[in-house]
Amino acid sequence: MTTRTRILTGITTTGTPHLGNYAGAIRPAIVASRDSNADSFYFLADYHALIKCDDPLRIQRSRLEIAATWLAGGLDVDRVTFYRQSDIPEIPELTWLLTCVAAKGLLNRAHAYKASVDKNVETGEDPDAGITMGLYSYPVLMAADILMFNAHKVPVGRDQIQHVEMARDIGQRFNHLFGHGKEFFTMPEALIEESVATLPGLDGRKMSKSYDNTIPLFSSAKEMKDAISRIVTDSRAPGEAKDPDNSHLFTLFQAFATPAQSDEFRSELLQGLGWGEAKNRLFQLLDNELGESRDRYNTLIERPADLEDILQHGAKKARAVATPFLNELREAVGLRSFVAQTQVAASTKKKAAKAARFVSFREDDGSFRFRLLAADGEQLLLSRNFADGKTAGQVTKQLQSGQALDVRSEDLSFSVWLEGECVADSPAFAESAVRDAAIEALRIALTPVQE
Ligand code: TRP
Repeated sequence: MTTRTRILTGITTTGTPHLGNYAGAIRPAIVASRDSNADSFYFLADYHALIKCDDPLRIQRSRLEIAATWLAGGLDVDRVTFYRQSDIPEIPELTWLLTCVAAKGLLNRAHAYKASVDKNVETGEDPDAGITMGLYSYPVLMAADILMFNAHKVPVGRDQIQHVEMARDIGQRFNHLFGHGKEFFTMPEALIEESVATLPGLDGRKMSKSYDNTIPLFSSAKEMKDAISRIVTDSRAPGEAKDPDNSHLFTLFQAFATPAQSDEFRSELLQGLGWGEAKNRLFQLLDNELGESRDRYNTLIERPADLEDILQHGAKKARAVATPFLNELREAVGLRSFVAQTQVAASTKKKAAKAARFVSFREDDGSFRFRLLAADGEQLLLSRNFADGKTAGQVTKQLQSGQALDVRSEDLSFSVWLEGECVADSPAFAESAVRDAAIEALRIALTPVQE
């Protein structure tokens, strides 16, 4: 059996992606999404952006540029779920449910918050000067992003590992308080790609906007050329042998070249290729590698309505998961309809019974069991053994009462639980997609139809 691995990551929309973002995060994420075993959820973390930035134009521009960058880079939106966080109202709703179980002490320990407090203390300010609740609660919002979709793996930079751990912590607490044995939330794991390049910037330090040493990604060829001309090199003259292993220009080249291209460049440097010429080679390489994507990027940027459609489509896919799941979670904490429970009893028998049937029978050992058959006669459930008919009857009644169903998947089958006890099992299905369809059929069969 293979269950697909759900990979989820968010990109905070406060800037324009540069070459380092592309090689370090965007390109590997796009490659990972092509694995047939991956079920990728990639999103624009624009609610997170509001924590760091109060310039609406910059937020808007960045969302557009980041969306266009990922698409131009080859992200296949039919394969992955690509959306804006702010298009999923279930996320802030879940954030509140999680806020109510997250320990304040846990959030006190968040690095980003602590760093701001330390800075204030150092400068003799009030410890909380300039610190918003947004910054403080940031990890809860991030936990909601991750837990909403039950992500298994969360590719992030090292600075985000703590946040993923907090998501586990908060999710576990919720499971414990409201799950009654059921694990609502999957425990996510941070995924740190060791093999992925951290690109050096113009000055050799890590390429980062905060060092002002970046090379633009999809800007004009001229801007890219200008940036490359500012790459710091040593003072060896043309004709003198260069040291490729201590040249960040060479490191940049390698990140985009085939091994054969790198070997060739290396030997040219060893033979004394001048730095000016070396910069030309790097420019040619990047222009070849990125030129096509740059054209796609420019086309996309000029068609914001198309981008909007693509993201709306992504939001729809994401909400198909989020909406029913959040309903379940609302139920779990006690935010339930007043009418469902009482009306259900009356309408269930009449209508739902028509769609699916319970068939009870007695085993040789005298115990009572039942099957639930779908409208087409397919068996959805076979119950466990009950000592008497009355208990078996109560269980079938409860299953039809409209209360949130506790269904647990296991390999290629699933089971149904009531008050922490397994009461019935499904047959084994040929594959997980068929199992999931059967769970869906079960939910429909047991959903009371309103009069
Ligand atoms: N906080 C992350 C960052 O700054 C972005 C982010 C928001 C994220 N929500 C997420 C990453 C969920 C992974 C999963 O890089």
